Amino acid sequence: MPNKTFYMTDIEKIEVGEAAMPQAGPDDVVIKIQSVGICGSDLHYYQKGAIGDFVVDYPFILGHEAAGIVWEVGEKVTHLKKGDRVCMEPGVPCMKCEECLSGHYNLCKDVRFWATPPYDGVLSEYVSHPAAFTFKIPDQMSFTEGALVEPLAIGLHACNTGGVKLGQTVAILGAGCIGLVTLLAAKAYGATRIFVGDVLDKRLDKAAELGAIPVNTAKEDFAARVMEETGGRGVDVAIDCAGFSATVDACLGCAKPAGMIVLVGLGADRIDGFNTSLMSTRELTVKSIFRYRNLYPTAIQAIAGGKIDVGAIVSHRFRFDDTIEAFATCTKDIRNVVKGVIEY
Ligand SMILES: NC(=O)c1ccc[n+]([C@@H]2O[C@H](COP(=O)([O-])OP(=O)(O)OC[C@H]3O[C@@H](n4cnc5c(N)ncnc54)[C@H](O)[C@@H]3O)[C@@H](O)[C@H]2O)c1
Ligand SMILES: [Zn+2]
Ligand SMILES: [Zn+2]
Repeated sequence: MPNKTFYMTDIEKIEVGEAAMPQAGPDDVVIKIQSVGICGSDLHYYQKGAIGDFVVDYPFILGHEAAGIVWEVGEKVTHLKKGDRVCMEPGVPCMKCEECLSGHYNLCKDVRFWATPPYDGVLSEYVSHPAAFTFKIPDQMSFTEGALVEPLAIGLHACNTGGVKLGQTVAILGAGCIGLVTLLAAKAYGATRIFVGDVLDKRLDKAAELGAIPVNTAKEDFAARVMEETGGRGVDVAIDCAGFSATVDACLGCAKPAGMIVLVGLGADRIDGFNTSLMSTRELTVKSIFRYRNLYPTAIQAIAGGKIDVGAIVSHRFRFDDTIEAFATCTKDIRNVVKGVIEY
């Protein structure tokens, strides 16, 4: 059976081809993919061919935010059947190392994560995946909402880590997909005032539409504006979802004494000028997160139960057949694209 697949064959070059039809091992399922979100990391690999030490070896398949329909079920799988609507956790850890056994499976050094070299992603018609990392989604949830469970899980992990609670004030730097899902998560956890900073107006408009107070950091000093609007108090939790010195600095500058900073952005390897005296004299706590663990069920329930409208972050929808155009648009029209998804 043909399995149409899009391969990245060079920087900014994607070609259509065919992969082998996957087989379901005893503990696996084969999934007929229905929706794939285009992530910032996919765009980074597409434009640069690498993220840090992860270097693409061509041909390479992009895409890791996915949902679909179970097509075939391995003989030992009991919780899924053919025809089930599902979304998949893209990282499969070893489940043998200390991190895995202590519950921090997102920190497993041997994790196999879709579209992270050397492992291919899912811009195919059919893929196989361990059933243990494949989750049923209810009928009222769209496949695109299922695909967006992946980034939402990051937003939930960021807010959990920061301890975002009812009535709190939160700052989020960066209004890309990750900043916006963190905004949705913070709202769902009960934050009542959320400042979001970015330099792109389209993204700030989206953040405002989702209930945030937008701040264009190219035009005004984020921390000064937050301090002014909070009567000099600052925010309970500041979350960096951009990864630049300027945005981490803004987090430090707008957090209240004894406040919390959460680093999500992975942009720069080193942050210059980290203001340690500002941090120490106000006893700020700085935490960081990497992906997520055990959060797919929570994210699915939050979307299905109407607590989080994750589909609201989507600005551009493309057909699977138009995958090549989708990547070109998402990189060239960065001022207008907030979040692109490929619907099959
Ligand atoms: N920790 C994790 O597990 C994890 C997971 C996924 C993504 N990330 C990282 O999170 C970050 C965000 O991911 P994304 O997919 O939303 O990327 P993105 O590039 O779509 O979003 C980043 C946003 O930051 C904005 N920005 C740039 N400079 C700014 C400034 N000076 N002030 C305010 N905003 C500024 C950009 O305009 C952009 O909208 C990236 O660094 C990514 O690598 C981390
Ligand atoms: Zn992603
Ligand atoms: Zn492990």
